[in-house]
Amino acid sequence: MSNINRMLLDVDTGIDDALAILYALLSPEINVEGITTGFGNIDVEQATENTLRVVQVANCGYEVPIAKGAAGPLKRVFPGSVSHIHGHNGIGDAILPPSPQQLEEESAAQFIVRKVNESPGELTLVTVGRQTNLALALQLDPSIETKFKKVVVMGGCVFVPGNSTPVSEANFYGDPEAAAIVFESQLPLTIVGLDVTQKTRLSKRHMAYLSQEIADDKQEILDFLNVALEPYFDFYAFSNKFDGECAMHDPLAVIVAINPSLVQIETMNAVIDCGSGYTAGMIITDRRVRSTVGRPVDFCLEVDQEKAIAQLLSVFTKGEK
Ligand code: RIB
Ligand code: CA
Repeated sequence: MSNINRMLLDVDTGIDDALAILYALLSPEINVEGITTGFGNIDVEQATENTLRVVQVANCGYEVPIAKGAAGPLKRVFPGSVSHIHGHNGIGDAILPPSPQQLEEESAAQFIVRKVNESPGELTLVTVGRQTNLALALQLDPSIETKFKKVVVMGGCVFVPGNSTPVSEANFYGDPEAAAIVFESQLPLTIVGLDVTQKTRLSKRHMAYLSQEIADDKQEILDFLNVALEPYFDFYAFSNKFDGECAMHDPLAVIVAINPSLVQIETMNAVIDCGSGYTAGMIITDRRVRSTVGRPVDFCLEVDQEKAIAQLLSVFTKGEK
């Protein structure tokens, strides 16, 4: 097991979350020791249902405990699902069969606290939704901040525009106070934000390649992805003027967690803005020579997107495990 990355995932299972989960479960380099769910792309009930079903369709050959988490932000009101991006059910209105798997009895925060205390220094946590579950876990047991091997967060933007406001990314905008708690902690953070995720694009040509090269036992996954990705391609054509491409935000966070050589990282002192209006959830980096604001955080600023996409596709094609 020594080369295997022991991982926890925190998700709000929309379309790109589903791809991140599938990648993590099918990668021979990763053992997913649990998935926690939260509100975000859709409400927590639907995110949890989607997670159960995506885990089932992955058919990864081992048990993956799933714990349900926060239904809303720490101090704000959840505005509801983003059906114009992820469809009405969060997974592009694709229908997956129901799963018989039972949820963990613990909350997401309790689950994260227990798992990291059982294996201090061993687990990588990848969060690809709001930071609410992680913030609640830190409030439950502040000692966990030094017990993760690393914490990779899909969220925020530094040198590129936001996607919820001109300066704020959805996962941080959706619960700024939670993101601020995470940034103020001593967690070993790597931020995989829009600076790199918007450049890491899956294209319709990639999907055509997958149709040719799909492994015999992954046809059900491909059928699911073809339906789920349709509205996602449409959204990116409209919002970003992408031509037959969509951003792989959440899969890139998982990929960076196991292969950081694909990104260039710069360490900057940073805080999260918790005001109202456009700057809610904005990352403020203090790049002054004598920086006084925030604490050092690792930000991914450049990515080898071709290699990242090739790594993502590799788990679905013939010849992989
Ligand atoms: O801004 C991108 C993030 O928002 C991704 O995690 C996506 O799934 C949505 O939650
Ligand atoms: Ca997400």
